[in-house]
Amino acid sequence: MRSWEELEAACRGCTRCALSESRTNCVFGTGSREAKLMFVGEAPGAKEDETGIPFVGAAGKLLDKYLCAVGISREDVYIANILKCRPPANRDPMPEEQDACIEYLREQVMLIRPKVIVCLGRIAAMRLIKPDFKITKEHGVFFKKNDFTLCAVYHPAALLRDPRKKEDMYSDMKNIAALLQTP
Ligand code: URA
Repeated sequence: MRSWEELEAACRGCTRCALSESRTNCVFGTGSREAKLMFVGEAPGAKEDETGIPFVGAAGKLLDKYLCAVGISREDVYIANILKCRPPANRDPMPEEQDACIEYLREQVMLIRPKVIVCLGRIAAMRLIKPDFKITKEHGVFFKKNDFTLCAVYHPAALLRDPRKKEDMYSDMKNIAALLQTP
């Protein structure tokens, strides 16, 4: 397994798919490398591509509010995405782009070994939990997979489009925070 330094350098120089040609920055991931809680989104957006930091746009600001509301500090979690480079016009990541990129995330997970991995939205849940994951029915449900506990919540961008989902998000985030407190 590669060290953090080797992994990040490989990711920053990656040309495994065409998204490397249009990226401004590779969005490797940020946060605590000892995190008990890891969030995995879909792919960087415009602001993330510009800054190299995940979840710093409008969706990220909303995620920060939920973290704060349930007493979790952003510095204590690790945040990454399935794709490290921005898809043009924020289209959904293509399966072959996910296949090309997923090894970076797999190694990040193995280096951190978090207690809980939370998928932000359907795309990450379909990739990490199961291909037929249904976010409206299965958000907030905890799954055990290869020694890890995983769950998915609504993507914060979906909450911006449909504020009626915010109540479910708050309740899911409270359950996640409570699970972190258990031994
Ligand atoms: N949406 C994502 O899925 N990831 C980001 O980093 C930003 C927005």
